[in-house]
Amino acid sequence: MDYSVKSSAATTLKTACLVAGVYQGGELPPATASVDKAARGAIRKRIGTGFEGEAGQTLLLFDVPGLQAQRVLLVGLGKRDGFDGRAFRKAAGSAAKALAATGAAEGATLMAELPVEGLDTKALARTLVESSEHALYRFDRMKSRGNAGKAPALKRLALLVASGGAATAARRGAATGRAVARGVATARDLGNLPANVCTPSYLASEARKLARKYPALKVRVLSEAEIKRLGMGALWGVARGSRQTPKVVIFEYAGGRKGAKPVALVGKGVTFDAGGISLKPPAKMDEMKYDMCGAASVFGSVVAACEMKLPINLVGVTPAVENLPDGNAVKPGDILTSLSGQTIEVLNTDAEGRLILADALTYVQRFKPRAVVDIATLTGACVIALGHHASGLMSADDELAGELLAAGERAGDRAWRLPLWDDYQDALKSNFADFANVGGRDAGAITAGCFLSRFTKGMRWAHLDVAGTAWNSGNDKNGTGRPVSLLSEWLIATSGRG
Ligand code: BES
Ligand code: MN
Ligand code: ZN
Repeated sequence: MDYSVKSSAATTLKTACLVAGVYQGGELPPATASVDKAARGAIRKRIGTGFEGEAGQTLLLFDVPGLQAQRVLLVGLGKRDGFDGRAFRKAAGSAAKALAATGAAEGATLMAELPVEGLDTKALARTLVESSEHALYRFDRMKSRGNAGKAPALKRLALLVASGGAATAARRGAATGRAVARGVATARDLGNLPANVCTPSYLASEARKLARKYPALKVRVLSEAEIKRLGMGALWGVARGSRQTPKVVIFEYAGGRKGAKPVALVGKGVTFDAGGISLKPPAKMDEMKYDMCGAASVFGSVVAACEMKLPINLVGVTPAVENLPDGNAVKPGDILTSLSGQTIEVLNTDAEGRLILADALTYVQRFKPRAVVDIATLTGACVIALGHHASGLMSADDELAGELLAAGERAGDRAWRLPLWDDYQDALKSNFADFANVGGRDAGAITAGCFLSRFTKGMRWAHLDVAGTAWNSGNDKNGTGRPVSLLSEWLIATSGRG
């Protein structure tokens, strides 16, 4: 969808549908109140007749007097006290869905003028665009023609703001929102694709497409032969049980000074995780197509950085493999030699993400990054610890952890920190190799983080476990695009553009 910003008066604006917020209990925000005044109270009159302004409620009004708008869409904002970014995102999402459902080709919204705790005009416009795009996202690429559902007519949304100064800020914010939304949609699409389409080779070819699209982006793909020749024994150990050839996709985005140290993102790209010889139970195994969402979030963040033309250098490394049982697969007890030289006893072949990340994290050191963040659907234990609300953050670097937590908070894409104390390292003891790939059942998310920490010595590094946040299960099964929004916000902050 196209977004524009206008500082013209809402009452004289010709539009198919004007979107206006209403607080729970019927109180009107200033912009809605002035429209209501021009409409001689037509809005206020309708409140309490089934529409109470509750969060997520909407009501479509026709023939509102005193306005040039054909229709007015009222959107419930919930309670005015504590109306914050989270409530705003929710309301903006329901507004976008309801607006699309009207069948209008364009609309105008007063929501960019709402007073929201902690969000200035620019942030508000970004959030509005991001939330609208998120709500309007559809994935029906895999349905045959008759079942794909017709594309919504809605093509343009105007964000109304009070002044010319606000318009400039809102325009910047909307552009950022559009860029981040593109990144989020990229990640969602890759996650939602089935594993028979989205293979390691598919990821590699999608990456090459991006490099053709964005001049500042270079892509390199390591082939199976190169993976073996380099000595990525941990990655190869996972890949060897699959007919799909592994790839390592490397993005280099050059938006910063030549020679300036890059920021690096490393994403787990297991295009399907059956568990290997330590086979997973059948329930919900289909969802393991989402086990490449860490990689997808790197693709998405790279897209967002390119779209924003961020003044930084950024490296993305995404190891991509399939984890299947096979006569050639790695077995429990097998010992792999990683790219770092450290040997790993594979006690459970289902703990494969950390194996491919181990080699990717060693590989990324050659770029001398000023910070490295890895993103992975790494452990079921993280879902037990934090549920589906927060991504798990682990880092020995308090400053980096603080930056990421704050970015997630601002972006409405939250993470929560778990400790990465040395006390947990003992769980990885092996009688035969340098260490094992699993600890016990206790603190499974943390011992996985401990495993990764052994491949990040001397680097400023953080780990995001997105096992609980990268997709929704059940009836609304769908990729979420998380944590692209968090990462984009962090990249913006590290670029100094803020
Ligand atoms: N991809 C899974 C983690 C996962 C499981 C994410 C369920 C989301 C939902 C990962 O590769 C895995 O299998 N981890 C094991 C580790 C265990 C063997 C130590 C797990 O979490 O059970
Ligand atoms: Mn696994
Ligand atoms: Zn996995």
